Amino acid sequence: MKTHVLIGTNIQTAKELLTAGKLVGIPTETVYGLAANALDPDAVLEIYRVKKRPHFDPMIIHLPHWDHVLKYVEEIHPKFELLAKELGPGPITFLLKRKSIIPDIVTSGSDLVAVRIPKHPMAVNLLESLDFPLAAPSANPFGYISPTCARHVEDQLGDKIPYILDGGPCEVGIESTIVGMMGNIPTIYRKGGYSIEKINDVCGKMLIHPSSSSNPKAPGMLTNHYAPNKHFILGSLDLLLQKYKGKKIGLITFNQSYPDQVNIVEKSLSKTGDLKEAARNLFSVMREMDKENIDVILAEELPEEGLGVAINDRLRRASVDIDN
Ligand code: TXA
Ligand code: MG
Repeated sequence: MKTHVLIGTNIQTAKELLTAGKLVGIPTETVYGLAANALDPDAVLEIYRVKKRPHFDPMIIHLPHWDHVLKYVEEIHPKFELLAKELGPGPITFLLKRKSIIPDIVTSGSDLVAVRIPKHPMAVNLLESLDFPLAAPSANPFGYISPTCARHVEDQLGDKIPYILDGGPCEVGIESTIVGMMGNIPTIYRKGGYSIEKINDVCGKMLIHPSSSSNPKAPGMLTNHYAPNKHFILGSLDLLLQKYKGKKIGLITFNQSYPDQVNIVEKSLSKTGDLKEAARNLFSVMREMDKENIDVILAEELPEEGLGVAINDRLRRASVDIDN
């Protein structure tokens, strides 16, 4: 019989389970994480098993305050120190040289560890109550869309974990921006919840890692990540609507509307054209579409500015086909 996961707001319950080496779904301001004690290799191994995640894909560790970072890393580049001071806590993750206290399994053997200080109050309270960091990838099966509310975690992992800490819907809605050094050059490795402009404003122009890289060192860069199960096509909606006439269509729009179409389920990311709202809605809209009785999901890129850059990156990765 399928046992049901408990969803609640009890930080003490989460703390006890995590201390006992169990997994807990936790809220952050970006997406929900699947958390375990980062210093316990068996607990971390269980994350890989539950997510069906390949062992070569390392995990972010989460800490309550920036003051704790030097317990786990050897050194911090001054630009990253500045970024952490100006923008942290929030949707930014730093790739830093790890100390040996971080088990190999967390970093997939790399000498770098990804470190993030989340802003969500419940995550911070939980982390403050623990004497270890939490390793936490997004709480979705590998390759699927990240969860942005407790129900999303329950939908897919509910029979595999004992508890989900419910912190409400995620405020940002897409994963953190990841920064690291490429040689001597500060580089953005994953576009995310802080826009490139925002990061460049603080510490000067950063290099952007080429997203099509096949180098597994590039985080979040596996193609066909964040993908729904249904056929998902990205292109010009006017053209795609003609091409798929007669099919049952799920249409993901930004702020435009297609009232005269038949046979379509339409969901807008932000009726007012607000990119922050669109980011917040993106993954739940993709998940809702995946449950609709439709043949194909069609979507169009948003303006390539601000959070639109990270949103477009996720849309491209979700699509099996880019069709103009
Ligand atoms: O917003 C977020 O970052 C969320 C929340 C839960 O914190 N977490 C998240 O984790 O998105 P995950 O595991 O789904 O994505 C983290 C990415 C992965 O693509 C992984 O390859 C990369 O970070 N990463 C982690 N550690 C790394 C390392 N040591 N070197 C290079 N890439 C690393
Ligand atoms: Mg993920």
